[in-house]
Parts: sequence; C-alpha cells; structure tokens
Amino acid sequence: MYTRTRLARVTRWAMALSCLSVATCYAVEEGTHIAQAGSDAEMSTISGEASNPRRHYRLRDPKILDPERAAEIYAIAREAMGVGYPLSGSEVARDYLSWRRFNSTPYLSARHGNHYLNNYANERALAYGEFEAAGRLPVGAVIAKDSFSVTNSGGILIGPLFIMEKMPQGFNYVSADWKYTLVRADGTLFGETNGPGANRVEYCISCHLAQERYDHLYFIPKDYRH
Ligand code: HEC
Repeated sequence: MYTRTRLARVTRWAMALSCLSVATCYAVEEGTHIAQAGSDAEMSTISGEASNPRRHYRLRDPKILDPERAAEIYAIAREAMGVGYPLSGSEVARDYLSWRRFNSTPYLSARHGNHYLNNYANERALAYGEFEAAGRLPVGAVIAKDSFSVTNSGGILIGPLFIMEKMPQGFNYVSADWKYTLVRADGTLFGETNGPGANRVEYCISCHLAQERYDHLYFIPKDYRH
C-alpha cells in the first residue's frame, strides 16, 4: 500500500516549492522536512489494531503555532497535499482545494489526531456554512478536511484527508448515508464506508453519530468560523 517512492516524490516537490519565498526558506533552514503522518515513527502511538483503529493516528508532541505561522506553514503543506492526496484517484482529493474553505485559519484538533485542520465544502454542501442551522445536507454534498502537523523538531507532517460525502438514501442507515473516506498523505486509500477498508473507518461513524441532531456534523470550533 505505502510506497516510499511516491512519498519521496511528494516530499521533493514540497521541498522545492517551500523555497519560493524567503519566509518559507527560513523554515527549511530550520530543518523542515515533510513526512507522512502514520509513518513508522507515528505508528507506535496508534491505539488498537492498525487494521481496525479506534481513533486517528495521533501526534504525541505537536508544536503549537500562532495563527499567522499556522497559515504560513499551511501554504507550504497545501502544495504537497495537492500532489499527494490526488494519487488516490479520488475526485474529491483532486478538487477540494478549489472549494470554499469554512475556517478562517488552520485550527488544532485533538479529535483528528492533534493535527491542524482545514474544512472545505463543495457547492452542494454550501449550507455547511450555516453551521448548526444547516439542517440535513443534500445528496452529493461533500466536506473535505485536510490535516498537517508540525513537530517540535521543526518537521511538517502531512496528515490524512478526511472526507464525508452524502450518498443516496439507503446507502448506510447508521451513518445517515454519509460515506466516510480517509486518504493518506501519499495517496493511499485507508478506507471508505461500504468500500475497501470499510472496517477501518467505522470509528468515524461512531463518533459522528453523537451529532445525530445536526446530520452527524460537528462543524468548526466557533473562534475559527467564517
Ligand atoms: C473522536 C471523534 C471523531 C472521530 C473518531 C472522527 N471525527 Fe470527524 N469530526 C469530529 C469533530 C469534533 C469534528 C469537528 C471539529 C474538528 O474538526 O475536529 C469533526 C469534523 C469532521 C469533518 C468536517 C464535517 C463536520 O462534521 O463538521 C469531516 C469531513 C470529518 N470529521 C471526517 C471524519 C472521518 C473521515 C473520520 C474517520 C476517518 C472521522 N471524521 C472521525 C470528531 C470525530
């Protein structure tokens, strides 16, 4: 599944791009490297079996960034994301960076493995921007959340792409017809509801189920909405 050559390509690409401005060159001098969350170093922190996780790969020691720095690093990370995630062949992974983003600046989330997150939604999911007042989203609505983290030693780690796509009624009663997909940084598909690796994304359904009255959506922490 996980090929080092593909990852190396993404890394080289990201490194090349990261030197386009003085500000980001500084980060490289600090020793920035881009790795894949869920790589060997991080696997040791997983809870449960790798094939059937109970929660996300979690970074044990994330560096806390001020909003400006988080935005700056995201600008670098985005370039690598735009290369890595689409290797999965997923249309969402290919397109989501051109969709509307609903958070003002990347925000840190313990729920998604201590990564910095960004939430995008496609046209069918524009009601997502009404947050708790959004109601049930229509078939074809897609929300995509990318993720990255920065380690205390200065490395940028690209995390997974988390996707929720509203499928036709009857797709999956328990998930309220949401298809959950997790694409890893190197473009490998970790799992999707009713598809390959479905058991690996069951834990998504269980946690989101707690938000049944909001169509299983959690939205964005209030300080980061826009
Ligand atoms: C432990 C609980 C938990 C688990 C497990 C979980 N999520 Fe989430 N999810 C959240 C919370 C809380 C938010 C909103 C805040 C945030 O982004 O962390 C959210 C937000 C999202 C969003 C943005 C839509 C929304 O609800 O506002 C997507 C997409 C998403 N999660 C996908 C996934 C996928 C795919 C998985 C499984 C691979 C997953 N989540 C597993 C708690 C969880």
